[in-house]
Order: sequence, then structure tokens, then C-alpha cells
Amino acid sequence: MTIEESTFKELESVIQMARKDGMRVHDVPGSIWFCAKVDGELAGFVSCYIRKRKGKAVFKSDYVREEYRRRGIYRKLFEARLDYVSIVDVKIIKASCTKMSLGCFLAYGFKSTGSRSRKYTDVVLHLVH
Ligand SMILES: CC(C)(COP(=O)(O)OP(=O)(O)OC[C@H]1O[C@@H](n2cnc3c(N)ncnc32)[C@H](O)[C@@H]1OP(=O)(O)O)[C@@H](O)C(=O)NCCC(=O)NCCS
Repeated sequence: MTIEESTFKELESVIQMARKDGMRVHDVPGSIWFCAKVDGELAGFVSCYIRKRKGKAVFKSDYVREEYRRRGIYRKLFEARLDYVSIVDVKIIKASCTKMSLGCFLAYGFKSTGSRSRKYTDVVLHLVH
């Protein structure tokens, strides 16, 4: 499996799958995209955007295709995105996660700040430089 930086355009086919699964996926201006490939096939993606003036990064659009799940692909994508953010000067990372991704956020030190709906829980991570 490989993790690579990608673009919204390159990920179009797998983004369609995520949308069919009920995910809302948007190319927020300034987004960075990472994808996982297994034997050259797109298996999943994550994105984030940085708001430097606010010292903030937002993690978004986390998705792994059903047939590739539960083998650590998301964890690898998650780490690639954290590595990227660690070299940018931000003080806080925010995200809204589902029940399926919450465990991963908590494992990397994010704290829950409450649920905005039945589906989404807001989480934050304060970075110390
Ligand atoms: C969430 C998702 C990206 C996880 O992908 P994955 O590659 O299967 O995840 P991994 O195998 O790397 O697992 C990493 C961690 O995620 C959590 N996790 C993964 N699948 C889970 C599930 N079905 N239920 C609860 N937690 C789950 C666990 O904490 C897991 O760590 P563990 O294996 O030590 O328990 C994938 O299930 C998915 O795309 N779900 C639908 C879309 C979604 O909910 N996206 C999140 C939006 S923020």
C-alpha cells in the first residue's frame, strides 16, 4: 500500500463512491488531499485545509472503500495528514467525525467537544510547538 498526495480531480472516481455511501465531500479552497493505493487501485482518501491566520487546520473527508476497510489504511492516511500539519504553524486541528472514525481521532490525542448531530462528533487537538 502507498500513501500519496493527490488532488480532488484525481480522486473523482472514489469520491463518487463516498458520496453514494452518504458522505458529503467538498473541495474546500486550499485543501490538501492524500490517497491510499493498493496494487495501484485507489482505496481511500483524506483531506485537510489550513487557515494560517487563525492558526487552524481542519481535517475533512475521511473515506476508505468498504472492501479495503479494517486493515489499517485509514490509520496510515491519518498519520500522513498529521505529519503534513506538523510542519505547518498551526495551534489547533479541528474535525467532525463519525462513529467509525472517532476511535482513530481519540487514539491520536484528539478530544471530543460535543456532538452536533446524531451522526457527527466534533473533536479538537491542541498542538504544542
Ligand atoms: C472510518 C473509515 C475511514 C476507517 O477506515 P479503515 O481503513 O477501515 O480504518 P483502520 O483499519 O485504519 O482503523 C483505524 C481505526 O479507526 C477506527 N475504526 C475503523 N473502523 C471502525 C468501525 N467500523 N467502527 C468503529 N471504529 C472503527 C478504530 O479506532 C480503528 O483502530 P483499531 O483498528 O485499533 O480499532 C472507514 O470505515 C470509512 O470510510 N467509513 C465510512 C465513512 C466515514 O465514516 N468516514 C469518517 C468521516 S470523518
